[in-house]
Amino acid sequence: MKLLQDVSSVRNFTQKRAPEQEIGLVPTMGALHQGHMALLKASLRDNDLTICSIYVNPTQFNNPDDLEKYPRTLEHDLNFLKDVGCDAVFFPSNQVMYPEEGSQLLQLNFGHLDKILEGQHRSGHFSGVGLVVNKLLNIVQPKRAYFGQKDLQQLAVIRQMVDEFFIPAEIIAVPIVREPSGLALSSRNQRLSTEEKKTAAQLYQTLLYAKEQYKAGGDLTTVKQQALNRLNGHLGIQLEYFEAVRMRDFQLLIDRMEADTVAFCVAAYVGEVRLIDNVVVS
Ligand code: PAF
Repeated sequence: MKLLQDVSSVRNFTQKRAPEQEIGLVPTMGALHQGHMALLKASLRDNDLTICSIYVNPTQFNNPDDLEKYPRTLEHDLNFLKDVGCDAVFFPSNQVMYPEEGSQLLQLNFGHLDKILEGQHRSGHFSGVGLVVNKLLNIVQPKRAYFGQKDLQQLAVIRQMVDEFFIPAEIIAVPIVREPSGLALSSRNQRLSTEEKKTAAQLYQTLLYAKEQYKAGGDLTTVKQQALNRLNGHLGIQLEYFEAVRMRDFQLLIDRMEADTVAFCVAAYVGEVRLIDNVVVS
């Protein structure tokens, strides 16, 4: 597995391949787990070469404490990637990704997506995500790039950006991987105690409950209220939002949308850790 730390070594690696060889990019912030494994497997299946990037991107953290405490496990990650058969790993420094230190950072505005759910609760987050994903797509120039559905709104942001900038990469969404309890895998779970992990599984249980009630014809206001009651009544969960959105444009729903695919999305703190999750109802 090739270890690449700067832009020119990535370019050398990609330019040396045979012209027909397709590249898959798996962007990550490290602390790799079985959720990342699903992204890597999808890329290894679809492409001739897979490059995984590991970079804890400071510009997407609106909370400095969250950035500082984000798990960093490079040695484990490199072994994980070698074992799965990844062809190369790009793990740049801040200096490589943001060489224009001190200058004004480019800001990206995703309109409606910046005003709701994650956009509303994490000011500047999507600008940082857009910036770093844009940089990674330009550096690697993959045929395909892989992102997890746990970050459903992030996927919508990336798709919008790729369309608007005519970036010739196909964006592939990979389903959420869960623990047996239903807890969605996330690098942040490493910061949860065993007790907190049990509590955190309530997020998915409540999403499932809402999905079942909605599918059974339940009125959306009632379904949402029941979900809010369940989560607010749970000691150890500090809810930020529980919402239903229309998948195709992320419009917040107040009534049933029979003909549309709908997603229930949740964000909450369990202890000190902020978690997000979602289920799609089609
Ligand atoms: O989903 C993530 O891990 C990050 O937001 C990403 C896409 C790697 C950008 O830093």
